[in-house]
Amino acid sequence: MRVAEIRKTFLEFFEKHGHTVLPSGPVAPQDDPTLLFANAGMNQFKAVFTGKEVRDYTRATTTQKCIRAGGKHNDLDNVGYTKRHLTFFEMLGNFSFGDYFKSEACAWAWDLVTQGFGLDPKDLYVTVFEEDEEARAIWRDEVGVPADRIVGLGEKDNFWSMGDVGPCGPCSEIHFDLGEAHSCGSNCALGVCDCDRWLEFWNLVFMQFEQHPDGSRTALPKPSIDTGMGLERITQLLQKKDSVYETDLLRGIIDRIAEVTGSPYEEGPLGTPHRVIADHLRSLSFSIADGAYPSNEDRGYVLRRILRRAARYGYQLGQERPFIHRIVSHLVEEMGEAFPELRAQQGLIEKLIQSEEEQFGRTLKQGMQRFEQEARGMRDRKTSVFSGEAAFFLHDSCGFPIDLTEQMAREHEFSVNRVQFDKLMDEQRVRSRATKSFAASASTPVHATSTLEVERPTEFLGYGLLQAEGVILGVEGSKEDVQVVLDRTPFYAESGGQVADTGVIEGDDFILNVTDVQKKDGVFFHRASLVSGKLDSITEGASIGAQVDPMRRADILRNHTATHLFHAALHSVVGTHVQQKGSLVSPERLRFDVSHYEKISPQQLADAEGIVTEWVLRDVPVAIEQKVPIDEARARGAMALFGEKYGDRVRVVSIFEGPLFAGEAVRSIELCGGIHCERTGEIGAFQVIGEGSVSSGVRRVEALTGRGSHSRIREDADLISSLAKRLKVRREDLTDRIENLLTENKELRDGKGAAPGRDCLVELEGGHGDRDTVGDLEWVAAAWPETPQDELLRVGDALKRRAGGRVFSLASHGEDGVRFIVGASDSVANKRVHCGKIAGVGAKILGGGGGGRPDLAQAGGKEADKLPEAFAAMKSALRDQIGA
Ligand code: SER
Repeated sequence: MRVAEIRKTFLEFFEKHGHTVLPSGPVAPQDDPTLLFANAGMNQFKAVFTGKEVRDYTRATTTQKCIRAGGKHNDLDNVGYTKRHLTFFEMLGNFSFGDYFKSEACAWAWDLVTQGFGLDPKDLYVTVFEEDEEARAIWRDEVGVPADRIVGLGEKDNFWSMGDVGPCGPCSEIHFDLGEAHSCGSNCALGVCDCDRWLEFWNLVFMQFEQHPDGSRTALPKPSIDTGMGLERITQLLQKKDSVYETDLLRGIIDRIAEVTGSPYEEGPLGTPHRVIADHLRSLSFSIADGAYPSNEDRGYVLRRILRRAARYGYQLGQERPFIHRIVSHLVEEMGEAFPELRAQQGLIEKLIQSEEEQFGRTLKQGMQRFEQEARGMRDRKTSVFSGEAAFFLHDSCGFPIDLTEQMAREHEFSVNRVQFDKLMDEQRVRSRATKSFAASASTPVHATSTLEVERPTEFLGYGLLQAEGVILGVEGSKEDVQVVLDRTPFYAESGGQVADTGVIEGDDFILNVTDVQKKDGVFFHRASLVSGKLDSITEGASIGAQVDPMRRADILRNHTATHLFHAALHSVVGTHVQQKGSLVSPERLRFDVSHYEKISPQQLADAEGIVTEWVLRDVPVAIEQKVPIDEARARGAMALFGEKYGDRVRVVSIFEGPLFAGEAVRSIELCGGIHCERTGEIGAFQVIGEGSVSSGVRRVEALTGRGSHSRIREDADLISSLAKRLKVRREDLTDRIENLLTENKELRDGKGAAPGRDCLVELEGGHGDRDTVGDLEWVAAAWPETPQDELLRVGDALKRRAGGRVFSLASHGEDGVRFIVGASDSVANKRVHCGKIAGVGAKILGGGGGGRPDLAQAGGKEADKLPEAFAAMKSALRDQIGA
């Protein structure tokens, strides 16, 4: 039986028994913070089991994409070594939500396995939870399994829970005896050893409890059923293969790996690298297709570790250059039909894997050499403990995750000194926290610190009104800082990235100037200063009029609606993997953070800007619906924020009217509680003004609308006119004129011999060196061979005086080492940036010293080949300093 047929047989069998066939949930779930990855078919039904959610069916069947590479269920270390473990696999399942229970679950499972799939009962065994006499009796008396083939086991084997919290219950597993040939020796027996002879391929969980964070267990509203059959394992049995890796699901990928690497595959231990790479490729590809990609945090870091493990195995096959991405097309050919998301995201998957491979490839060889060197030293010293310092070096300088180093150590029968490693990691964390917390405290936003106790939630009128009458329910504070709670208010409290409204609250004999509004448990706290009247006259029960600043509100609305349009436009131009990671909607501008693995190119930004502009010109209505059931909103494709908790009913903002461009429908639909324009035409104009990196895998875009955009256009136009006037040319000749001036300047300099043969400033203009964005600053790093310090200082001086915030490091290198300067624009030095400290970080790496003032520092070192590393460290020191 081919795998497609196996899937179909399973799903059709349960459909015949009244189950609704549903699609797999995402392998990287977005709405369950307790899960790194989907680890079982029941994940998407968690709330149904616990009774929090009711569906219009009580029986379901699925094939679920799963990854077990972290958390409670983790098979990462077994992959490649056993014949049955995988990090990525498909789980076929049937579920009963308070409908049928043990009897039907066991009878149907046996029927499908023996009749549907035709396995011989003589090869089968079942295990039950040792206290579950009921299950034992069902197998024996109702299904007819011989009593000596029913094995009772303890909680470790036969009590299943999803994680530390969630639904759980006793379970019963069906095993296939692969025969003596697979036995591990004289002690080999089901439930005693863990060898490849006893292949557990179907787990039937009798869901009865919910596990809580405090360790307690409560009964589920109704006993339920959750089963999971490993597709790869049943395929192995039906295709009569020796291992899951020999089935048509994986063998094709393994052969392709052999072809690309030129290393033939062997089924024994020598084939471990091929098997690991095949498995890891599936985990990575399916995760990326579902919107999770390698990074330095949480599930992204699990993926990065998986990739690095695979790359290290590739290195063992002689691959020093990226190659894993070249196998993706094969996987898509094999699995794209069953999982169309793989096809849809193929380009992204290939690109992301390649860029991760390239990144690790830069230090992989160095790390491997360092490991070998350490191993040789250990052999000489006759020790088998790999030092924590070497492991830390591999982690910190070569990007080797600790589990990779530990695995390599295991292969040499070494252990790693984890105590020392962890200590060094802690020290590093403390160092970076010290710089970060300083930066963070400088920019902590003002939040409601009120101690006012008002229980009644404030009625919010601001979706439709800018002005309202109300009554004061609570007041406290001083003249400069008054906090007021009203019964009803038109003021929007900061939330969802949209800043608070400002305006005026006026009573009979006082006027308050509202500067901020925050809400807590539905109560709005207005922070204000007293403009006229006495503090005493602001009393509970006093009637007031509240008026929001209308111009400012209008500016905010433009930016908010434009943020939605821009989000949708990015999906269309850059890809649907782009997810919102944060946003700021203020009157002056909008700031939008999105997940994306590389710079969003100027062309992509221009295209997205074009799409938004088209929307603005078409003056499309913005539709707002209240209280839409969350499932319906999601089914309509509404974009939701990762990690955000939503209620059962949500507010949906949709902007859509026919295809914007021929053949291409771009629509915006989001769950959002913010305030919007009534029509897109109100936005007036939309202009992207900057793009940069916020952290690994997150890009930040800033844009202007309406009045902000108009002012910016005016400023730009004035600047161009004044330059043209100054240089006495027409605006269209400006570029040529500047080119000429730069050439003339260079010639003059060469003639004067100030920097023979080299004008570093001109070279910088021409693209020499590295430029990047760090937070709101520009970072410039460049190096030249044998260049006088005066020349570096001259260029530094020019960079300092240029408009915009900038930090730079300029270096000269030669035989006796490196000298460099670090400087910053006057607007940032002394305030947020300390150049002396940044220079210190670089000098340390270069094996030297130096330092200096906050606004300019000079330093140097001996090890010129470490210059790229020093630049990178200085950039990251800058990032830490400004908390970007
Ligand atoms: N949830 C159980 C398992 O993963 C059965 O589906 O084994």
